[in-house]
Amino acid sequence: MDDLERPGLEGVIAARTRLSHVDGAAGRLVIAGYPLEDLAGVVSFEALTHLLWTGDLPTSEEEASLRHALAPHRALSPAVAALLTAACAAGAPPMDAARMAVGALSLGADEAGAAAAVLGALPAIVGGYERLRRGGALVTPVGPLGTAEALLFAIDGRTPHPERARALDTYLVTVSDHGLNASTFAARVVASTGSGLVDAVVAAIGALKGPLHGGAPGPALRMVLEIGAAERAEAAIAERLARGERLMGFGHRIYRVRDPRADVLRAAVDRLAASGHGHPDLHALAAAVEAEALRQLAAHKPDRVLQTNVEFATALLLHELDLPDDLFTAVFAVGRAAGWTAHIAEQRETGKLIRPASRYVGPLDRARPEAAR
Ligand code: COA
Repeated sequence: MDDLERPGLEGVIAARTRLSHVDGAAGRLVIAGYPLEDLAGVVSFEALTHLLWTGDLPTSEEEASLRHALAPHRALSPAVAALLTAACAAGAPPMDAARMAVGALSLGADEAGAAAAVLGALPAIVGGYERLRRGGALVTPVGPLGTAEALLFAIDGRTPHPERARALDTYLVTVSDHGLNASTFAARVVASTGSGLVDAVVAAIGALKGPLHGGAPGPALRMVLEIGAAERAEAAIAERLARGERLMGFGHRIYRVRDPRADVLRAAVDRLAASGHGHPDLHALAAAVEAEALRQLAAHKPDRVLQTNVEFATALLLHELDLPDDLFTAVFAVGRAAGWTAHIAEQRETGKLIRPASRYVGPLDRARPEAAR
């Protein structure tokens, strides 16, 4: 292997972006110039989308205008509704349903309106699919609901309590963009070929579905539920570490100090619990498991900084919102779609096809095959 060969493209800089900066050494995530902590729980997901799409936070008129542009897309077309119904009948996982339904959005939208169509329809697709799985019929909200409200409305069929919507909104802002992660890169590769926005988002959904990218919060939640009681945490965690298992929701490949997303999500979980929503028992159990895990990880790997990562906090927050763990990745897609669509536009500005090279390692001199008769 020479200097040009980098498995997984690790360390390769494949794009310039104004959208987000992941500073692993300092434990900082900067989105379009703002530290995450100044955005999550402070500005709405629509304001954040405007920031990613235009480079600036919106005025209140601009934010209202974006909400109005997204609102018509919350009403799913008959084609999308039929696909979701068929996916539900087949027992498809939510990410498969989302991929199929988002693919059908190209039927109704021209390229200029495709980003609004995706951002507008995704919460209705993800929430609507969950409603279908619970045996309900698809519902369309009246008026320009925010993305978090629209997703919860699509599940429950009623306007959510503001604290629940606020908690989900904070989550969507928190996961909206994160440098050149695998799904964002997939979207940029497709965009670089001159293909359509919907094509690029479908590719991104396919990449996000994989367990190495968007699929980890479920196991983190299951670990907490399996431990089951605060007094069991010490022994249960010690057993896991003694077996050589990794504790789900701790440690990070890039963040070596702390994962800033975990901090803002934990604040959102605390706020939700303080407002009387969510599940106080689980909240207390998760806090006990987290504290014990951090204590034992520090002793287990004294030379490493193993802190709570975004997946642990995500699992807790989405569970507190009564979302099933197999829906978590699809909800992640709703937030990350803001980043995908912004990266697609940014990639198109370069006009450069992404086309890395491969090193051929097969044989070069095999015998010529006989001509077919
Ligand atoms: N629990 C127990 N041990 C852990 C650990 C965890 N969560 N995370 C790392 N370690 C240990 C590793 O086993 C390894 O030990 P070794 O040197 O004896 O083999 C050592 O710490 C090296 O860790 P590090 O270099 O930080 O791991 P990495 O960069 O290869 O992996 C993760 C990063 C995220 C893959 C890893 O921390 C992990 O598997 N975490 C649990 C899964 C998870 O939460 N994933 C979601 C990430 S957002």
